[in-house]
Amino acid sequence: MSDLLISELTEDMLEGAALLEASCFSRPWSMEDLKDAMEKKDIYLFLTSLYEGKPAAQACLVMAGDEADVTNVACNEEFRRRGFAGEILVNLIEKGKERGIKAFFLEVRSSNTAAIGLYEKLGFKTEGVRKSFYRDPKEDALIMWKRD
Ligand SMILES: CC(C)(COP(=O)(O)OP(=O)(O)OC[C@H]1O[C@@H](n2cnc3c(N)ncnc32)[C@H](O)[C@@H]1OP(=O)(O)O)[C@@H](O)C(=O)NCCC(=O)NCCS
Repeated sequence: MSDLLISELTEDMLEGAALLEASCFSRPWSMEDLKDAMEKKDIYLFLTSLYEGKPAAQACLVMAGDEADVTNVACNEEFRRRGFAGEILVNLIEKGKERGIKAFFLEVRSSNTAAIGLYEKLGFKTEGVRKSFYRDPKEDALIMWKRD
């Protein structure tokens, strides 16, 4: 599809993944959080990617039974609107299904129209709202699900 090089998070991608986190979120995962996600493979599946040698897009599954929370969806500002986050998520969902995940859910800020558009395009549907779920700044979360 594109020249995006997708792989599971590895030691040599940790720093780039942390920088991308910090550039995208007000409460980013630290290097320690990312290391934990890299090591606990029964719980986490963290995909990263490179484009032209730079960290491009990434996302994580936090798995419990046959359900998984989709977290840390981020794309390098330099490479947005090229389908990279979509490509990462398609891969993540495919890999999740191979591991027996039947339903995927996520939380998204109610004002984040870019991310909501991305998730809707991939078949996620809003099933609920969690009032004041987010801090920095305080905001409601939409709870979106994609079921088999
Ligand atoms: C949300 C985000 C991950 C999208 O990454 P991206 O690689 O630019 O997304 P894609 O190119 O795969 O976009 C896929 C679809 O999402 C929607 N979309 C993406 N960005 C959009 C925008 N700025 N405005 C409206 N719709 C948008 C569109 O439907 C798009 O399809 P199209 O380009 O064919 O119209 C990126 O903007 C980002 O990192 N934002 C900051 C972090 C964040 O908010 N993460 C989500 C937390 S829940």
